[in-house]
Amino acid sequence: MSNPSSNVLSDKLGATARELEDSNTLRLPCRASCVVDLTSTAQLPDISALARSAGGLVVLGGGSNVVLPAVISLPVVRVQLRGIQPFQAGSDAWIIDVAAGENWHRWVDFSLSRGWDGLENLALIPGTVGAAPIQNIGAYGVEVASRIESVMAWNVAEGRMETFSRRECQFGYRDSIFKRAPAGSWIIVCVRFALPRFWMPVLGYPDLARRPELSAADVSARKVFKAVVEVRRAKLPDPADLPNAGSFFKNPVVPAERVEALHAQFPGLVSYAQPDGMHKLAAGWLIEQCGFKGRREGAVGMHQNQALVMVNHGGASAADLRNFALQVASTVRDRFGVELEPEPVFIPGKLAA
Ligand code: EPU
Repeated sequence: MSNPSSNVLSDKLGATARELEDSNTLRLPCRASCVVDLTSTAQLPDISALARSAGGLVVLGGGSNVVLPAVISLPVVRVQLRGIQPFQAGSDAWIIDVAAGENWHRWVDFSLSRGWDGLENLALIPGTVGAAPIQNIGAYGVEVASRIESVMAWNVAEGRMETFSRRECQFGYRDSIFKRAPAGSWIIVCVRFALPRFWMPVLGYPDLARRPELSAADVSARKVFKAVVEVRRAKLPDPADLPNAGSFFKNPVVPAERVEALHAQFPGLVSYAQPDGMHKLAAGWLIEQCGFKGRREGAVGMHQNQALVMVNHGGASAADLRNFALQVASTVRDRFGVELEPEPVFIPGKLAA
């Protein structure tokens, strides 16, 4: 970041050195020497030039699915693009373009207020609209992939805008082409949603299926939204009160033979059959069985109501989180022979200041 051309670009982009503790929901202290706020797509060519001269880039949305190191030396782009634009009303879907920097939950709330139903199961997920397709956010039986028409993203290395259809996004469970790409390759600029004009509630998930107000004939997307908000508030810690990044591990996906063998050995095992014949194991159950639910070690711990959520009790560093995650994963491996994969992205940088 010290060569003259990158200094000129940083100045042009209004870059500053910043502490990023307030820009990540785990509230990890992090010092970045060059932070650019992306408020207009007109900045993108200069950001590509900056990335080229610095040898990479870190892209931050709401900071709700990242583990930040103590020091980041690459330029950091905070995506703050705004705007919600109905694009066209198709015969079976409302098509709406939403800028990547919009807050996810506020967008879900707004969409329902306009009568564009379909995102209610995804209420209260922290983060931004642009981050949603990266890990294909999902909750209570709906994955965002099923509501996306296309994604517009800036190709940082090539310096051009590209549009990915839903199929081209290669969505999977907490996965997409953007999640698999090397960090900093893409800046998602806009998500085009396709929300069904003929809405059907998705109520299969046990936490929703058991609620009487949702089985009545007058069920509405707003009622589902309210129920999801209540369920999440009861189970998941609010990052504003207890810093966290949601689920810290993915639910492992294993073949049928494997799940049968595990069930035989551990009758209480919680698993869900997937449409492709594979089975998802509830990682929260595996972690709880290993005694980590509510366990605290120093500044970090697994949450008392949801063993899948790692929390920062105050003063934790990326190294603390990494060490605790390794301990949880190796205990689960020893007991069940199952590999846990972290869900948040570990941003490269120096772990100690
Ligand atoms: N369970 C336990 N102990 C625990 C937690 C869970 O035994 O401490 C078992 C219970 O049997 C429970 C089952 O696991 O019924 C499933 O738990 P839960 O409904 O809380 O869902 P999850 O599989 O742990 C996933 C997502 C969440 C999402 C919920 C609801 C992943 C990695 N996580 O969690 O997403 O909100 O389902 O759909 O897929 C996130 O990604 O950050 C996130 C919070």
